[in-house]
Amino acid sequence: MNEKEWWKKSIVYQIYPRSFMDQNGDGVGDLQGIISKLDYFQELGVNVIWLCPVYQSPMDDGGYDIADYYQIDPMFGTNQDMDQLIEQADARGIKILMDLVVNHTSDEHAWFQEALTDPNSKYRDYYIFRKGIDGQAPNNWRSYFGGSAWEKVPNEENMFYLHAFSKKQPDLNWENPEVREECINMINWWLEKGLGGFRIDAILNLKKRIEYGQLPADGEDGLAFIGHWILNQPGIEEWLAEIDQRTFRKYNALTVAEADVPEDQLSRYIGEDGYFRMIFDFSYTDIDVPETGEWFLQSNWTVKELKENILQNELTTQKFGWGAKYLENHDQPRSINKYLPNEYQNDHSKKMLATLFMMLQGTPFIYQGQEIGMTNIRMDEMSDYDDIATHDQYRRAMLSGMSPEAAFEGMYLRSRDNNRTPMQWSDQKNAGFSGAEQTWIKVNSNYQTINVEAELNDDQSVLAFYQKLIALRRQAGPYQEAIIFGEVVPYEVPQEEIIAYKRSTAEEEVLVIVNFSANHQIVKLDGSYELLIGNQAYQTNLEQIKLVPYGSLVLGKKSEESK
Ligand code: NOJ
Repeated sequence: MNEKEWWKKSIVYQIYPRSFMDQNGDGVGDLQGIISKLDYFQELGVNVIWLCPVYQSPMDDGGYDIADYYQIDPMFGTNQDMDQLIEQADARGIKILMDLVVNHTSDEHAWFQEALTDPNSKYRDYYIFRKGIDGQAPNNWRSYFGGSAWEKVPNEENMFYLHAFSKKQPDLNWENPEVREECINMINWWLEKGLGGFRIDAILNLKKRIEYGQLPADGEDGLAFIGHWILNQPGIEEWLAEIDQRTFRKYNALTVAEADVPEDQLSRYIGEDGYFRMIFDFSYTDIDVPETGEWFLQSNWTVKELKENILQNELTTQKFGWGAKYLENHDQPRSINKYLPNEYQNDHSKKMLATLFMMLQGTPFIYQGQEIGMTNIRMDEMSDYDDIATHDQYRRAMLSGMSPEAAFEGMYLRSRDNNRTPMQWSDQKNAGFSGAEQTWIKVNSNYQTINVEAELNDDQSVLAFYQKLIALRRQAGPYQEAIIFGEVVPYEVPQEEIIAYKRSTAEEEVLVIVNFSANHQIVKLDGSYELLIGNQAYQTNLEQIKLVPYGSLVLGKKSEESK
């Protein structure tokens, strides 16, 4: 797998380690648990695994608050377990990606502790400390998790530190060359162990343009969206290029950045010499989130918009580089709940979503449990939620005057914990995830029907469908070239609720047609196609096809010249 652009032929499986598999019976997933499931990835057919953070962490934000970049948190195991995972995965042709979180550390990191205890230590300048204005924060930025982005330093007068996320996640000062050097060394240390690369967290926030005082507020809290001053600020490009050249590129590593980049900058990010091999697009996974970011409310999105976003993103990305495609991740609710009305949430429509997503151009990222069609969880009360952002959104919903019932429903639809519940392996205790009396977060009660074991034994299951989709990309065969590399060309149809596109090479054409509606629909074909995969019947040699509600088909034909 050492081909130069090996990631283009890859499929990544994302693991939320806390909830994947608990081997030592403490109710929390661990690295040995992941090792015990390596055969499963082979059975599924994926060849890359991305682990959400497993570094030492007080877990204020699910591990995105790192207290030691060089240590695995005891909750997950030891550094030896990590070495073992890399080695054993490698033996099966599977690469491991870790999460790289360098915009901030935990406030429990030794650097920050030193910066607090000794204001004259060099670590003071590893972070962003600023004097307040008459005892108030230096400005009125709102942190991404709500409330002021400045926290008062205990035992010091009129002194604050910046945290774009929670107050337990102080931002690093990237202007300091020593900080950059520390991060570069740390990245190389991990890559030296044989990692396949990194998923890169919050990276566009590195450069800050600090303005002081009362900036124009955009919410009832009197605060202003911090992103205007810290997202993608001029100057960040030098740092990003330097990191890439001194780390990732040397190891031919896969890097996928969490970065919403405007089109005119895309080539700098994902072009030939771009800072990253690929970036995630948010336009269709956040389609249900209102522009204010208040996700306790739902936006009024339409399928027409969804279609435009997906196709537009395909056309733009392929002009400049390579895409990273996902339906779900640890920050999203389950896709079936997000995209489908209640009465149509079933295996049939889960297969439709899988088809739509897996046939796009770019590397697919499958989130744990998505492949068996896991769903959002009905919690009993707010205290069942662990996620810091969920509690913040609930607080904001209450402040806005929403009823507790309506706000709780908002959490059911959008909480990040929907995707963080334990992986459902079987119909046994705790869904086969853990032998503990209690798991760190509740298990979804539908595990008796939705679980890996049952689906492995059913050739009509969502899992079996994913296996086939994965095989179309991963196993040599007709149409593989078109499915991986084919140009995306929208296939024009009159209906707004049909998403259709071709993936074409000189020799082959793959046509993907998805009915995103509860009605039957007729679509005209431009030739004679064979069926590659679908969740409904298909008859060859017909000039038009009838799609059932939420039906989807992937069809193939050889181009005239290649016959
Ligand atoms: C993005 C991560 O995906 C999310 O889970 C985390 O809360 C923030 N970055 C802060 O690190």
